[in-house]
Amino acid sequence: MGKLIFSHSGEEAEVEDGEPLHEACEEAGVPFACTEGVCGTCVIEVVEGMENLSPLTQEEKDFLGEQTKERLACQCKMKSGKVKILF
Ligand code: FES
Repeated sequence: MGKLIFSHSGEEAEVEDGEPLHEACEEAGVPFACTEGVCGTCVIEVVEGMENLSPLTQEEKDFLGEQTKERLACQCKMKSGKVKILF
């Protein structure tokens, strides 16, 4: 079980290991549109714990580049541990 922390509000959500962040982020107010890694609406900044997320998908590499603190919330999954984000 991983913990997702929303930096601006201090809110926390639990996300099962291997599960996408999509639902928890949507509940916290992150906007989504395509959910396929194409539009960039769901960009989040990872403040802490990038290593606790799944590797960048090809869609994320195409949109964000490979050296980035940002992720597309519709694409990444929790590995375990704690991840702090801003959106
Ligand atoms: S919702 Fe379009 S990239 Fe995530």
